[in-house]
Amino acid sequence: MNTAQLLALDHIVLVLVAALWLGAGVSTVMARRDRRTRLIALGLTLAALAATGLRVGLAVTLSRSGWWFAADKLILALPLVGVPALVAAVAALPRLLRPSPSPATAVPTLTAGYGALGGVVAALTISHPVPPVLAGVLIALVAVGATITWHSLGTVSRTGGVETATGTVARGRWSTTAGIAVLCTALVWAGLSAWSSRIPATLDLGAHHRGTTVQDPAQPATATRAVTDLRGPATGAKVRRFTLTAKPATVTLASGRRVEAWTFDGTVPGPTIRVRQGELVEVRLRNAMPGIGVTLHWHGYDVPVGEDGVAGVTQDAVKPGGEFVYRFLAEDPGSYWYHSHDLSDPAVRMGLYGMLVVDPTATGGTKVSDHTVSTHVLGGVQTVAVDDEGPVDGLARLGVIPGTPVRLRVTATDNVRRTLGLSGTPYRIAAVDGRDLSRPGEIGDRRVQLAAGGRYDLTFTMPATPVLLSVDGRSDLGLLLTPGSGTAPAPAAGPLLDIATYDSDGPARPGGSGGSGRFDRFDREVTWILDRGLAMLDGIPTLAHTVNGEVWPRITTPVLREGELVKITVANRSGDVHPIHPHGHHVRVLSRNGVPATGELWMDTFDVGPGEVWEVALRADNPGIWLSHCHDLGHATLGMTFHFAYEGVTTPYDAGHASGNNPE
Ligand code: C2O
Ligand code: CU
Repeated sequence: MNTAQLLALDHIVLVLVAALWLGAGVSTVMARRDRRTRLIALGLTLAALAATGLRVGLAVTLSRSGWWFAADKLILALPLVGVPALVAAVAALPRLLRPSPSPATAVPTLTAGYGALGGVVAALTISHPVPPVLAGVLIALVAVGATITWHSLGTVSRTGGVETATGTVARGRWSTTAGIAVLCTALVWAGLSAWSSRIPATLDLGAHHRGTTVQDPAQPATATRAVTDLRGPATGAKVRRFTLTAKPATVTLASGRRVEAWTFDGTVPGPTIRVRQGELVEVRLRNAMPGIGVTLHWHGYDVPVGEDGVAGVTQDAVKPGGEFVYRFLAEDPGSYWYHSHDLSDPAVRMGLYGMLVVDPTATGGTKVSDHTVSTHVLGGVQTVAVDDEGPVDGLARLGVIPGTPVRLRVTATDNVRRTLGLSGTPYRIAAVDGRDLSRPGEIGDRRVQLAAGGRYDLTFTMPATPVLLSVDGRSDLGLLLTPGSGTAPAPAAGPLLDIATYDSDGPARPGGSGGSGRFDRFDREVTWILDRGLAMLDGIPTLAHTVNGEVWPRITTPVLREGELVKITVANRSGDVHPIHPHGHHVRVLSRNGVPATGELWMDTFDVGPGEVWEVALRADNPGIWLSHCHDLGHATLGMTFHFAYEGVTTPYDAGHASGNNPE
């Protein structure tokens, strides 16, 4: 069983534990009446004990995948359920063996039940690390519940078949008052934290690392630089100029269906920007969207921070009628994409994105059939787009002469991962997120999962029969490459390939370094625990997507020094998939779920599934203030947006409410 399955099982067992203890408690109260109820109570208590034991076992097993998977269970569940359960076992079991057990026997049993109920609440609302106040409130409520139960059950006495309850009403009132007091305290605390969580009118993301954070006194402080000083070069050998105008448009899908979209230049995806390595890219963004700010973020292209296009961090959102010019040197060949980064969830969903390809400096040789392929849900319909051909809500088609080398640069632009299959030919994943792999092996009918925001370059030689790139296993969605005739093969249906251990069995790439560099001595370690839990999001209690228990903009910002090698551990305790995208850097994947990655896997968007732990290395070689977030942009909006910064880098821009900028 993997960690995700263990986590799911733990939730089921948790509910079972609560039901069993409460059932055991109620039947213990009634156990005086007859032998059958006593036996039921006995059975339920034993079952509850066994389930509690199972849960402890699960927690211990989970802790082996990482303490963060079990911390809340071991910290909270033990005092809440474990201790009352043990008391119940010691106190209740022998008494249930005798006739007419006192109802007070049920107090520890019911307390374990309340605790388990508290555990259910905790599992659904508390994200890692366990917030002490919430934990305290839960424990206090269980204690109050136990006291009330004790008062109302504990003093029933029976003389000659007549039951008398003494002194319970007053004391019961006292503990009810205590319970109300705990609840009021919790409410006041919630109100205060909601109030303090409001995103202020002005929010300077550079404020807390303004050139003063020198951790090592032996080293001089880095001079302060603003993101506006860290821009692309003004001149270059060859300048390639593009203009993109953001505007609403009606887009017609291949089926004839019309969709209202937000577009660059009237098309979705926007025009492909395709340049050659060494060229200077200059893109003029114009905004003709009514009432919506727009920017351009070069997803995966590690531009200087001043060109990163994050509203409120690296620039002001371009307001309707405004413009902004981006400039960067295209040094790294590969597949990338661009999209707006102001209110990015609706912006990308509605169509404000396009492809960016940097071709390597001409090497001559055979002509490659080289295409961009992107998948996107437009107006509720799943589509694919090949090059600048417009969205196809079905199978796009390409004619390719047999024997031609083919390269398909596939990009997933939605909020969810896509499963790709290539049938009709063996193929390789030559590059991931714009970086060539070192020894990509040949893939038969195995399928691959592409993270939201990620790119795979699939390569193969065109056979004499058709080849099908299928999306999500569908025979009617994807790209069909044909040599002119022949029927489409069935979609690939093989097992999923693990991208982290894929790059190993192929022939070494000519010119590839083949080595691994040094990724074992780190200057800094950063841990991001992803979770789902109750958090105050801009003043509103939300079932948010949290990082280290916090949400945007309160997630602690790691401050890096240029040149450092940083080890980042990302663990996902939630049931959701989180494609993590650090801006401005590719990270070298070190391991996934404890299994070392093979070859040379560099990613800018790595897909951390439920229960997964990824270890990656980041070389701090691109100074700036870098937004990072889950590329399920809905999750980013619900809290999972954070940033990391370089010592001494500041921003003149403002991400607060009054600024009109929405980094996410
Ligand atoms: Cu494509 Cu900040 O993301
Ligand atoms: Cu996410």
